[in-house]
Amino acid sequence: MDQKNSQSRNTFSGSIGFILAAAGSAVGLGNIWRFPYLAAKNGGGLFLLIYIILALTFGFALLLTEIAIGRKTGQGPLTAYGVLKPSWKWLGVIATIIPAIILPYYSLIGGWVLKYFAAFVSGNGGAAAEDGYFTGFITGDWQPIVFHTIFFLATAFIIYLGVNNGIEKLSKVLMPILVILVVVIAVYSCTLRYTDADGVTRTGLQGMAIYFIPDFTGLTFGKLLGIIMDAMGQLFYSLSVAMGIMIAYGSYLKKDANLPGCVNQIEIFDTGIALLAGLMIVPAVYTFMGRDAMSGGPGLMFISLPKVFRSMGGIGSILGIAFFLMVIFAALTSCMSILEAIVSGLIDRFHWSRKKATIIASLYGWLVGIFVALGYNVLYFEYTLPNGAVAQILDIFDYVSNNVLMPVLAILTCILIGWVLGPKTIREEVEHGNRYFSRYGLYVLMICVVCPILLVMVFLKAFGLFA
Ligand code: ALA
Repeated sequence: MDQKNSQSRNTFSGSIGFILAAAGSAVGLGNIWRFPYLAAKNGGGLFLLIYIILALTFGFALLLTEIAIGRKTGQGPLTAYGVLKPSWKWLGVIATIIPAIILPYYSLIGGWVLKYFAAFVSGNGGAAAEDGYFTGFITGDWQPIVFHTIFFLATAFIIYLGVNNGIEKLSKVLMPILVILVVVIAVYSCTLRYTDADGVTRTGLQGMAIYFIPDFTGLTFGKLLGIIMDAMGQLFYSLSVAMGIMIAYGSYLKKDANLPGCVNQIEIFDTGIALLAGLMIVPAVYTFMGRDAMSGGPGLMFISLPKVFRSMGGIGSILGIAFFLMVIFAALTSCMSILEAIVSGLIDRFHWSRKKATIIASLYGWLVGIFVALGYNVLYFEYTLPNGAVAQILDIFDYVSNNVLMPVLAILTCILIGWVLGPKTIREEVEHGNRYFSRYGLYVLMICVVCPILLVMVFLKAFGLFA
């Protein structure tokens, strides 16, 4: 290991700073728009139960592995694998290409959220609820690029400020505010009541029941497998594993921190916010739009929710502002971690200053983000992905990173740690300073056997070969 580099390296001031930053990375767009929709689609409580079991086993092993690799090597993802095993250094390139593919489109979507926030703040929330508003905006000539640029500038500025002054300070302010906003909106959402034009009255509590009570109707083995696959894919993205991020953040963690303890807290944060996001969205959409609207999919956040806020009257405008502000915080703390995964790698590999690495990575991310935005405008085309979905540039970027490269990186990481170097590599790091790794047996089972099998299934699913 490059001792000099590791000693002069920035660190989080303590475990709390690290946990809030890592939770900030984990809690993102995935928790807010995708989790509630998947839960509603997959039998409510049943999905939640499967998700929690997977978080405590599969998620625990993968997250712990990445944080431990980062802390052990004191390197960002680009060089960390090579420090562990020189003949495996190419894995660091994959671990850097993944955040490089995600960064541009994540920032573009962050810009969309900013646009909706601006619409609600300027009193135009009603217009945002009109049919065609979302499509009109994303296919526009310049607005998506302007909002992407603003969002990207904010992201790059925080990374330029560094680990302590940027990432840690901001996470310590934004994450508690985010929790408060989510709790307030979720509680309000459960108290709603609405009678529609047909005289049917629906309540937030009924929506909450749909969300929490497991629905086993028509459940077959095939369907159960489909739910497990959905939960695993979501968990993976949500925990920010296989994106190089947790290796980068782990490399800034002090040696005295208790790794499994940190992992537990990050998971509680991430899963807690995902559950609460469902409580914000499912009861509200159910109350005002009925059960069928829950199949709105990813469009839920940008198309259905503005309609829900409009139906609420005056209070809806305020809730709309609070909601989109909260999503901006969630997206920003995730987007900056994606940029940091690239920047930390460039600093370690090429010994560039943070300023130089940030400027180069940001110019790349910003320009490619414009290219992705143009995929809804002059570069529009329709391409059918191997899983059958019709895609534009953004969807192709998302598919290649999320469905193909992330499972590949995670499978190879499991092989490297589980079979080539052996799980003791991680055990040594966890037990540093005379700590005891109480869940080591579970960890070995997961990293050597269960995770690789489940990950191969996730990978095959991307090609329509499974579930
Ligand atoms: N973990 C981040 C999210 O859920 C990337 O959006």
